[in-house]
Amino acid sequence: MEADKQKVQCEKVQVTDSDLSEQIKAVTKESHVRAENTELMLSFQKANISLQQYKLLLCSLYKIYEALEEELDRNASHESVAPIYFPQELARMEALKKDLEHFYGQDWREKMIVPAATLRYAQRLREIGSEHPEYLVAHAYTRYLGDLSGGQVLGRITQKALGLKNGEGLAFFTFPAVSSPNLFKQLYRSRMNSIELTETQREGVLEEAVRSFEFNIQVFDELQKLLSISEKSELRQRHKTHNLKTPDVRVNQSSALSSSLTPSSQLLRMLLGVCFALAVGMGMYAL
Ligand code: HEM
Repeated sequence: MEADKQKVQCEKVQVTDSDLSEQIKAVTKESHVRAENTELMLSFQKANISLQQYKLLLCSLYKIYEALEEELDRNASHESVAPIYFPQELARMEALKKDLEHFYGQDWREKMIVPAATLRYAQRLREIGSEHPEYLVAHAYTRYLGDLSGGQVLGRITQKALGLKNGEGLAFFTFPAVSSPNLFKQLYRSRMNSIELTETQREGVLEEAVRSFEFNIQVFDELQKLLSISEKSELRQRHKTHNLKTPDVRVNQSSALSSSLTPSSQLLRMLLGVCFALAVGMGMYAL
């Protein structure tokens, strides 16, 4: 707490309308409302979350922070990145690894399910890390300041809704090196405002911030779609088992999810079908 306070006071935080932090907040205001109102975020706010939902979200967040933090590290000494580079206070990768290991076990990497929207988001982060490192500030702002704002409330809701004990599975929401999120956000904004940008670069950063919210919205929407496919498939399975009058045969949620999500298994089934048809065809030809 004291350390944050001192840093903020030393840096004399004075925010004006022409400051990047104010401009970025203004241009993303409408996108923030849309992000808050995605089905996934609404279910978090209503504390109506399933473990499956939270686990899937963690998988996507891992892929996003992996790309963001690798690019921030690679560009740590870039003039537009250095002022907002706070790996010790903000980095989320290790926390996410811990949460994923808690829920999926040691082999969490093999079990991760990530929708295409998440991969597109990560791809964009890698692209700008190489071509426009100054745009990284837009993405870092969207994710980290979001995590330090509404994210803190979502953490408490998740803990209660899923009955998680002793902070297990909740490392993502915890920032041990940030004693006061509000003071830290002030410091972060003042650092953003110290970045020197040409007019063209500033416009680019503002556009990228809107794009960054858009990527998040697309990820949430795709995750929600995956979840409803899984629910439907589980319902169908239950319906089938009910019709077969074998009520004790049950498909758990995760296997229903993986059966509906692994395109490779469908492909394999198709390939086997084609092979079978060919074999039959060739057999008939030989006859
Ligand atoms: C359940 C959904 C959400 C809730 C309830 C929520 C709530 C909030 C609240 C209360 C603030 C503080 C506003 C202030 O200090 O003036 C905030 C700030 C922020 N949120 Fe969210 N938020 C949500 C989702 C998101 C998402 C999905 C993102 C981005 C992916 C995001 C990004 C941000 C950012 C970047 C800020 C900092 C704004 C600034 O001070 O410049 N939020 N949010």
